[in-house]
Amino acid sequence: MDGMPPQVKIVEVGPRDGLQNEAAIVPLDVKVGLIERLADAGLTAIEAGAFVSPKWVPQMADTAAVMARLPPRSGVRYAVLTPNMMGFEAAQAAGAKEVAIFAAASETFSQKNTNCSIAESFDRFAPIAEAARTAGIAVRGYVSCVLGCPYEGDIAPAQVAPVVARLSALGCYEISLGDTIGVGTPARARVMLRAARAAAGGTTLAVHFHDTYGQALANIYASLEEGVAVVDSAVAGLGGCPYAKGATGNVATEDVLYLLDGLGIATGVAMDRLLLASRFICDALGRPPASKVARALTGQTA
Ligand code: HMG
Ligand code: MG
Repeated sequence: MDGMPPQVKIVEVGPRDGLQNEAAIVPLDVKVGLIERLADAGLTAIEAGAFVSPKWVPQMADTAAVMARLPPRSGVRYAVLTPNMMGFEAAQAAGAKEVAIFAAASETFSQKNTNCSIAESFDRFAPIAEAARTAGIAVRGYVSCVLGCPYEGDIAPAQVAPVVARLSALGCYEISLGDTIGVGTPARARVMLRAARAAAGGTTLAVHFHDTYGQALANIYASLEEGVAVVDSAVAGLGGCPYAKGATGNVATEDVLYLLDGLGIATGVAMDRLLLASRFICDALGRPPASKVARALTGQTA
């Protein structure tokens, strides 16, 4: 298709962005079983957890144990979130080859999510970036609230661009633009993406849509037309953010894959195996998938 990338990398964030938001703590065996099935499906970039404060996000407290249980697989990278040096050191000790630092385009969200201003968050990120460079660990950057904030409302592209520029300057190999509360629509997403691209200095951009208003696939389609070739999603549409009340899950990986398969865009991910991962986590959580594609293909109903 004209203008569309021939292949797309899907970044599976379900084990982190999804499970961080579950009311009940998901057992270690289930987390590992999910991640293994996601890798079996052909996903090569999987967020396995977060080295954040267990007081803030108890659901991620066993991330070191998750990492210890994952056998290395060639071509598969398990990333973990690290908000500060304490998190980075834990990630390094756990053998992580990739960490993600997460900033926000909204001051209030930055405070609620990480207890610091945007500027202070970069004071924490700088030593992570330096230590990661020395250790040969890849760093991914996130910007949350790129289209809207649960506390501040609409966010302008001019608020996103400087955060993207700073993450790029720190050496992030990829920057994921998060519509944390899923309020975006394609026209606004395009304007934001163009501003982000102008600020990114050539750093690869990824999109990270939540589906609160049912706009995620439309936003992804628009992003593909803008040349984006990295898409974050969560199996079964798991997720939300504990510091973004009312936000529903990430766009479902099954739905993204169905869209990309239909467009003839290569991903390396097999739908039948992805559905096994989806079924596994939905059975463990005792609820049907939020993914329409998973429901249609497996006969599960809401
Ligand atoms: P704080 O309370 O200001 O931190 O939290 P502190 O440095 O004052 O430490 C307080 C306590 O936490 C201390 O323990 C530290 O040791 C401990 P105490 O002495 O009280 O026993 N601590 C840690 N423990 C483990 N690992 C660590 C760590 N750091 C401190 N790394 C902090 C600041 C950043 C730590 C906290 O706010 C936090 O952990 N926030 C994480 C919130 C989070 O995980 N949010 C969800 C991910 S972001 C997201 O979902 C959006 C995204 O998906 C994109 C999108 O959708 O747009 C990425
Ligand atoms: Mg998210």
